[in-house]
Amino acid sequence: MDWGMQHRLANIIPPNSGRAVMLAVDHGYFLGPTSGLEEPGKTVAPLLPYADSLMLTRGVLRQCVDPASRIPVVLRVSGGTSILTELSNEDITVSIEDAVRLNVSALALSIFVGTENERRTLANLAKLVDLGEHYGIPVLAVTAVGKDMARDARYLSLCCRIAAELGARIVKTYYCEGFEEVVGGCPVPLVIAGGKKIEERAALQLAHDAVSRGAVGVDMGRNIFQSSNPVGMIRAVRQVVHENRTPDEAFRFLTGLRGAAA
Ligand code: 5RP
Repeated sequence: MDWGMQHRLANIIPPNSGRAVMLAVDHGYFLGPTSGLEEPGKTVAPLLPYADSLMLTRGVLRQCVDPASRIPVVLRVSGGTSILTELSNEDITVSIEDAVRLNVSALALSIFVGTENERRTLANLAKLVDLGEHYGIPVLAVTAVGKDMARDARYLSLCCRIAAELGARIVKTYYCEGFEEVVGGCPVPLVIAGGKKIEERAALQLAHDAVSRGAVGVDMGRNIFQSSNPVGMIRAVRQVVHENRTPDEAFRFLTGLRGAAA
């Protein structure tokens, strides 16, 4: 692996812990102004010191993130659909030249296995991997799940393995029952999405269960920026992911911050 590729992967998964807290704020690319991200710049700025990397689109990156910020960027480069239509009908939406200009640490693209656009999104992934490898930029594949599809270990193992076989350097998926099977079948590092907003204690449990069963970390969005205390929440997630704190310890830290603020 060349130096640039290794360097960028180390930006995403810091070698001191071998774990990653990625902050996902790319939701607007198909959801529009998601709750908590109406003004992405204001949401993101206080969270940056606690994130290892930031996953977002180029539009939000250019307009809302200080270029002097040292945050490694995972650029969402698939899209072209909205919540109102068929989500799987994605294309690659950013040229590799623009990604290089934006100095990104990784490129992120969704695959939709088992949908009518399976072949197209997998071909998009293979094409993006060729471009990324040429410039030393890792590709993170997101195993997107259609509205009616089961997020079980059998299905997610299939998606993650296909993504890795096509050359993704990191795979983002969902936590599920039997997650060890998903990890065991995937030869590249896995991170999990947080999913819809749930209670903070439950989200910390989710992060803990994922890393204790082999994920290298989280690429979490709504459970951080929709929290009543986003900075406290990302700090608590860091404790679980990087410091192996239990969900109870991290939750006590979070509620302690609330108590101090009150
Ligand atoms: C959508 C994505 C989002 O970044 C991701 O799902 C957001 O994270 P969360 O589920 O934790 O809000 O990749 O395809």
